[in-house]
Amino acid sequence: MATRVINISNRLPVTVGEKITKSSGGLVAALEGLSADEYELTWIGWPGAAIEDPARQQEVECVLSEEHGCLPVFLSEEEVAGHYEGFSNSSVWPLLHYMPNFMRYDPAWWDHYHTANQRFADKVLEMAQPGDLVWVHDYQLMLMPQMLHERMPELKIGFFLHTPFPSFETFRCHPKRRELVTGLLGANLIGFHTFGYMRHFRSTVLRLLGLESEITRIRSDDGHVSAMGVFPIGINSRKFDETLDTPEFAQRRDEFVQANAGKRVVLSVERMDYTKGILHRLDAIEQFLAPLTPDERDAIKFIFVSVPSREEVEEYKDLREETESRIGRINGTYATLNSSPIRFIHGSVEFTDLCALYATADVGMVTPLIDGMNLVAKEYIACQREHDGVLILSEFAGAAEELANATLVNPYDARAVAETLREALAMPAEERRACNEPMRERVLKFDAQHWARTFIQQLATAESPLATVAEDINIAAGQLRQALEIGAPIALFLDYDGTLREIEREPRAAAPTPEIRELLEQLRVCENVEPFIVSGRSHQDLELFFPEPLIACVSEHGAAIRRHGERDWEQWDRDISYAWKDEIRELLRVYEQATPGSFVEEKRTSLVWHHRKTDPEFGTWKAHQLAHELGTMLANEPVKIRQGRKIVEVVSSEISKAIAIRRLLHERDYAAVLCAGDDQTDESMFEIDVPNFISIKIGPEPSRARFRLRDPAAFRKFLRGTVATQREPVTASTA
Ligand code: UDP
Ligand code: G6P
Repeated sequence: MATRVINISNRLPVTVGEKITKSSGGLVAALEGLSADEYELTWIGWPGAAIEDPARQQEVECVLSEEHGCLPVFLSEEEVAGHYEGFSNSSVWPLLHYMPNFMRYDPAWWDHYHTANQRFADKVLEMAQPGDLVWVHDYQLMLMPQMLHERMPELKIGFFLHTPFPSFETFRCHPKRRELVTGLLGANLIGFHTFGYMRHFRSTVLRLLGLESEITRIRSDDGHVSAMGVFPIGINSRKFDETLDTPEFAQRRDEFVQANAGKRVVLSVERMDYTKGILHRLDAIEQFLAPLTPDERDAIKFIFVSVPSREEVEEYKDLREETESRIGRINGTYATLNSSPIRFIHGSVEFTDLCALYATADVGMVTPLIDGMNLVAKEYIACQREHDGVLILSEFAGAAEELANATLVNPYDARAVAETLREALAMPAEERRACNEPMRERVLKFDAQHWARTFIQQLATAESPLATVAEDINIAAGQLRQALEIGAPIALFLDYDGTLREIEREPRAAAPTPEIRELLEQLRVCENVEPFIVSGRSHQDLELFFPEPLIACVSEHGAAIRRHGERDWEQWDRDISYAWKDEIRELLRVYEQATPGSFVEEKRTSLVWHHRKTDPEFGTWKAHQLAHELGTMLANEPVKIRQGRKIVEVVSSEISKAIAIRRLLHERDYAAVLCAGDDQTDESMFEIDVPNFISIKIGPEPSRARFRLRDPAAFRKFLRGTVATQREPVTASTA
């Protein structure tokens, strides 16, 4: 059966005017390329105009869904102004493109952005079923992944960012930076055009939310995993290649060649957007034209196709005015009696004409100041089947990574761009061909369909939240009840922080609550049940929390035990040597000095270097460095090096919770043994191999444990519902 794919982009692939017409953007082509046998596609989006009349809405909805497989999300004029023109295109777009000086912000826009994202999410939820793949596109919908994930965690949600992702220093300027990043982390897979954008995103997540990531995965605090990947989008190569074979194309190409006879043509095609570097390009063109004679000027023609874009937004209006005035000035200054240098088309051109323009232009001049990818560059190359023009490409376009044979320029350096243009026009034919052939091959092969297929395939195999579900916890409950019913002894080995008790930022604040005290009391008085607290804390800490020896406590991962009813601690690590500590302490002090905010903690059985309060990236980098150095230094010592949550710990390998528990299990036979823990150090307990063994992981991280409970509250409930039901609670007043 075909997998259902729900695709959501701000703009639908149709234009709704008097009539409804299908548009032919890259995304449409990409998704059309998905096999209908494998994928059943529905597209959700805004129809591009504020349609507020309910009768018209109904009519549009009907035609869109029946004839185009699209479901419209209607937005009022006010919502379009707030969500699209305001929040999306006046605050997020400029920041994503490293242009904080173009950013404007109005708090009212946020409400519209949030409402619009919610409206898109609701539309998805109306139709979504478990097993569906949901693919959300671009910066206008950054909150959607989280909204969907919260309401339907079993959905596989993909997000693709079609723009750059800037460095943290730029992104942090946005007033809603945290909300935007958190919104994205609801996705199971987040895609970027380049590795650089992905690297910036990881760094931003770390700095804003404190979440460490592996190279390609981020785990949120609730355990949800967002994979990340690099998927450079391609063009609709089949459409270009097929068009180049049509007689209509041949006719237009010949017409252009004739019209431009005796001239070299330099072509630029783009939306009228300040990111595209139009004004900087005009500077370069002026510098190029200045030294030319009138005859030389007659022999060159610049064609600008500038597609109108976001014309309600102030900065776009200003850009249009400025561009028109600058072009007027250049044409005025450099025109001859026969021609003027720049032909400016403020509009879009027919697809066949676009292909003919690409195919006949001697130079494709693509010089954005920054661009997520830039498809025009790839389209120009795809059309160089016979002519072999030169692509001058900005090094700040995502496409520059793949089109390494293009003539790369820094668009801010007008003089260098002018010089490069001179060289490009003089480049010999073999050189041009040698550059273009491998690029053309690549552009045609890794096309839009390839892009969509790889993203969807990776999304389909992305880690599902359900993959971490262990065996049914009722089986564990049954095992315990059975043992209790026949009056057989049971041992409970319970980690404290994160297992019985919620973690606190300040460790000393995690004292047992009255509820926990009552539960432990209930366990203690259960006949045949022997509870132990098995903690990594020092015995001083444990005494603070449990001054009376009502319950047995094991401290520092098994270094000492205070048995039930006894006041003294039995030291279990007397024969263990800690001689290695002196050398390590010195090294850790060096790291403490070199890494502001870090500090060293000394425990009886271990030395710990904490980097919680350092610059997050610097701290992590130093932690890797330290772990590596320790590994070499301590290769022959009886120690383990543990790189945990914001710590590097060196601990005696002769001590572990598992060793301590095995020792206790030798002292007495139990009919059932339960071990519960939340942390990496608890994993050793889960390896114990005795009959009727119950291991429970608290929390979402991967674990060897057989069973899993979400959090300490769920674990306490489990204990109350199984073991502690055996007796009436004995409260402090009745004890
Ligand atoms: N394009 C168009 N009509 C035109 C000129 C260009 O639809 O008159 C297309 C062009 O073929 C390309 C897209 O607009 O596919 C522009 O994509 P690009 O990635 O270069 O920039 P974006 O507009 O996404 O920033
Ligand atoms: C860029 C954005 C797209 C957007 C397109 C056209 O490519 O990444 O999300 O759809 O420009 O902009 P518009 O504002 O007209 O939708």
